[in-house]
Amino acid sequence: MQDVLPPESSRWVDVVSRFALRAQRFGYGLLLTPIVEHYEVFARVGATTDVVRKEMYDFVDRGGRRLALRPEGTAPVVRAFVQHRPPTPWKVWYLAPNFRAEQPQAGRYRQHWQLGAEVIGVDDPEVDVEMIELLWGFCRDLGLRDTRLQINSMGDADTRERYREVLLRYWRAHATLLGGEMERAEVNPLRILDSKRPDWFEMLEQAPQLGEYLSDESATHFARVQEGLQALGIPFEIAPRLVRGFDYYTSTVFELASGALDAAQNAIGGGGRYDRLAQEMGGPAAPSIGFGSGIERLLLACDAEGVLAAPAARVDAFVVDPLGVADTAVLLAELRESGLAADRAYGGRSMKKQLGAADKAGARWAVIVGADEARRGMVAVRDLVSGEQSEVRREMIAAWLRARKDEATS
Ligand code: HAM
Repeated sequence: MQDVLPPESSRWVDVVSRFALRAQRFGYGLLLTPIVEHYEVFARVGATTDVVRKEMYDFVDRGGRRLALRPEGTAPVVRAFVQHRPPTPWKVWYLAPNFRAEQPQAGRYRQHWQLGAEVIGVDDPEVDVEMIELLWGFCRDLGLRDTRLQINSMGDADTRERYREVLLRYWRAHATLLGGEMERAEVNPLRILDSKRPDWFEMLEQAPQLGEYLSDESATHFARVQEGLQALGIPFEIAPRLVRGFDYYTSTVFELASGALDAAQNAIGGGGRYDRLAQEMGGPAAPSIGFGSGIERLLLACDAEGVLAAPAARVDAFVVDPLGVADTAVLLAELRESGLAADRAYGGRSMKKQLGAADKAGARWAVIVGADEARRGMVAVRDLVSGEQSEVRREMIAAWLRARKDEATS
């Protein structure tokens, strides 16, 4: 689990605000749910998944209730939907920490943050396309270019049932190679498919594919998703073995990988349909789809591609008042209210120390209030990049800096 300190945290503000703006443009509203849920909320959605079986932080609270820290974002959204019964389609986005007691490594943490979106109550393939478009466009907004989109269809319940049997027969024929994992294969044959173990490569390559068992209805839905993506110019690959890690998935599933990250942790977003989850949680039939995208992974991908650097200057202006003659608090208030980021040194330090503090703060300009200038109703402004200094009328300083800032950013 990690702390995120400034200035790194300013990139988080950047990532989250880009996602929020995009989600709003697509008609999604923010949903906030508690970090803890009843254990059953998650137990029901992933009885055969490692995330639920082995990685959950669950505990008994003072009232004797069994609770769990959220390991993923979809189950709480569906729980909230079943509880509040909002009109459908219910389009929500979220920002939330998730907890999984995984083996920590670069890009895989015990607490990670996800940005996600879900649409509850529609089975139209157009929604699948919109969902993928939201994730794809967001990653483009961040400046990511080295990304690969994979999609697959897991079909309907009958398809999967038939496929499970075929697959289990196949795994049993390879029981020696599977070794201890055979037990997992018996519980959920699909779980083995997306393994990255090199010694299984050939066995996985030759395994029967779900796509061959799709019903007409599922195949038509999947074809319409592909047409929709093509129409929007979003490149994708069909990945027959992409089954994703939760039991709730049905129909369309997708994953966005970064080509700039290590293969083991290269998923920067993933999701899919879960058409039966609302019903399984005691709600009405509400076919749904969504995705989650890990903020830490997104930032690692940005680092690897050299995009979305932390902004160099943290503040626009730093007020330097070595003689204590200025109404510094009033001047700062003016600058801040005009929309500039402005700061100061505290504790009446020397001119040199205050200029040093301005540098450390990454200030673009120092606004220096000397006794002589103050008498004449002026302030000195030093450009801390070029070193150039000029005098500006005290009452004009906020507008003067604002104009220069706008000029620099336009
Ligand atoms: P997930 O694939 O488990 O799906 O997680 C989504 C994303 O969260 C991953 O693509 C990755 O970027 C990030 N992530 C997952 N685990 C970790 C970790 N341990 N450390 C760092 N980042 C991680 C879900 O959680 C589903 N709820 C997505 C979904 C939403 N499906 C439908 N709606």
